[in-house]
Amino acid sequence: MSDKSEKYALLQKQVASLTAGETNLTANLANTAAAIHEAFGFWWTGFYLVEEKQLVLGPFQGPVACTRIPYGKGVCGTAWQRRETVIVPDVEEFPGHIACSSASRSEIVVPLFREGEVVGVLDIDSRELATFDAEDAAGLEAIAALLFQA
Ligand code: SME
Repeated sequence: MSDKSEKYALLQKQVASLTAGETNLTANLANTAAAIHEAFGFWWTGFYLVEEKQLVLGPFQGPVACTRIPYGKGVCGTAWQRRETVIVPDVEEFPGHIACSSASRSEIVVPLFREGEVVGVLDIDSRELATFDAEDAAGLEAIAALLFQA
């Protein structure tokens, strides 16, 4: 098992136990963002939640961020529209990328599903290029599934 997949396996256990018995979504998303952020030392780790036709900033760790992202805009709005994880190795190469922080170089966005509907996204930014790969996608999708019943 790679270092990274071991970390994700541990994180999944940690998130499962942090959220067990807690029904408050804000509390669960806040602790999950903190757990992921601490485990990997990412630049920004957080959630956006769907409110009508926008994503609205939810619990996160890292510098202040944009509060609202329209459907189909930026990496977050694109993951929502495509209903699939989007990995961006170099944000400068992604047309329409929304730069909340100029330090951000690569990004992954995982949609969150409840009863087949996208209810939000998990967004992670890195200060390095090409930080995220299929292993991150699988690890983060498993964490998303723990938080929302797909
Ligand atoms: N870069 C994102 C916006 C959110 S921030 O990175 C926290 C995007 O293009 O959707």
